Amino acid sequence: MSFRALWQALLPIGRDPGTGGYRRFSWTAADLSCRDWFMTAAAAGGLAAEQDRDGNLWAWWDTAAEAGEADSDRMAGASRAGAVVAGSHLDSVPDGGAFDGPLGVVSAFAAVDALRGRGFTPARPVAVAAFTEEEGARFGVACLGSRLLTGAITAEAARGLRDADGVSLAEAMAAAGADPDLLGPDDELPDRVAAFVELHIEQGRQLVDLNAVIGVGSGIWPHGRWCFDFAGRADHAGTTALPDRRDPMLPFAATAVAARQVAGRHRALATFGKVSVLPGGVNAIPSAVRAWLDARAPDEGGLRSVVERITATAERAAADHGVTVVTVPESFSPPVEFDPALRARLSGALAKTGIRAPVLRTGAGHDAGVLAARIPTAMLFVRNPSGVSHAPREHAAWPDCETGVAALAAAIEELAAA
Ligand code: HGY
Ligand code: MN
Ligand code: MN
Repeated sequence: MSFRALWQALLPIGRDPGTGGYRRFSWTAADLSCRDWFMTAAAAGGLAAEQDRDGNLWAWWDTAAEAGEADSDRMAGASRAGAVVAGSHLDSVPDGGAFDGPLGVVSAFAAVDALRGRGFTPARPVAVAAFTEEEGARFGVACLGSRLLTGAITAEAARGLRDADGVSLAEAMAAAGADPDLLGPDDELPDRVAAFVELHIEQGRQLVDLNAVIGVGSGIWPHGRWCFDFAGRADHAGTTALPDRRDPMLPFAATAVAARQVAGRHRALATFGKVSVLPGGVNAIPSAVRAWLDARAPDEGGLRSVVERITATAERAAADHGVTVVTVPESFSPPVEFDPALRARLSGALAKTGIRAPVLRTGAGHDAGVLAARIPTAMLFVRNPSGVSHAPREHAAWPDCETGVAALAAAIEELAAA
């Protein structure tokens, strides 16, 4: 199927008609429809699709099968050693854009289609992959599927993760027909996959400023998420004197302002994008405020120092208001340097096809960053004219997306030719 046909088939799934943003959260109905889309796309492309123990999706271009290798070998996966894999994720942040994740998966299918169309036969297996719960929007841990696969999170810890309604990952998977008892690392991953390439819309404007359509990733900033639980005392908003209040909203507000100030002083980024207030009555002083900090910085020492400063402010402000605060790290991603040799090969392959691709470092996390701990990975970025991401306005121009497919096809051809 062409890029455009694949894109149009996926576009309506999980889109909120009111905001135009996406709500594709893992193991929900929207996610299951995305999984169906993936299976249909694989079948249309003549690829053998499977869902692995962690809920990640793989579509295999089994050249050995096509060459008639014995089914037993193929089915055992023996012919899948040293595969070249391209993909990304299909889930979204709340009201996310259409491109973050799906552009990489659709482009991978379209790249395989283009390679077949020009008669390329890979010397090694090629696969398209879509990793589950990359955004961590439902269960709080970013890149959950690739973390499970690489052993960066234990199956037990993952099973116990709960969403805002208290539903555990295990319950959500079981309700979707997947077996949570199978969760766990893939110890053969380094043998099975020789290289993973993730194409992604750029989440920023570096390519615009560099007047380039495609970029090659050099690395990812360290980043993480911390949950701040402020506990105060519920009371009446209209009768409780100010000195008598234990209002958790006030230390949270001081902490949010401090986060911005600290980040500004330390070349970092700090965001409180998700806050829940209990019980949530307009005329009641809250009993509790739970807020999530997303913090990122060019280096790990700087990041730790920023988070320590913000935490210290939270503790001081809580004490000033007779409130308690507990800070819990929820998800952490160390800095990533993509494989230099792989990056050089991709840059060379792109240059041969006439694509000038500057090298970009990013503050955005990706499955390629997690997988880099176990296998050589690389990233290609597609120009984003506004730079906006994690919002309905996220957009890449059609011709740039098609250049992305050509770049990814060139990358796969370079890596799978021998
Ligand atoms: O949050 C991130 O950096 C990525 O978009 N998951
Ligand atoms: Mn994202
Ligand atoms: Mn993404």
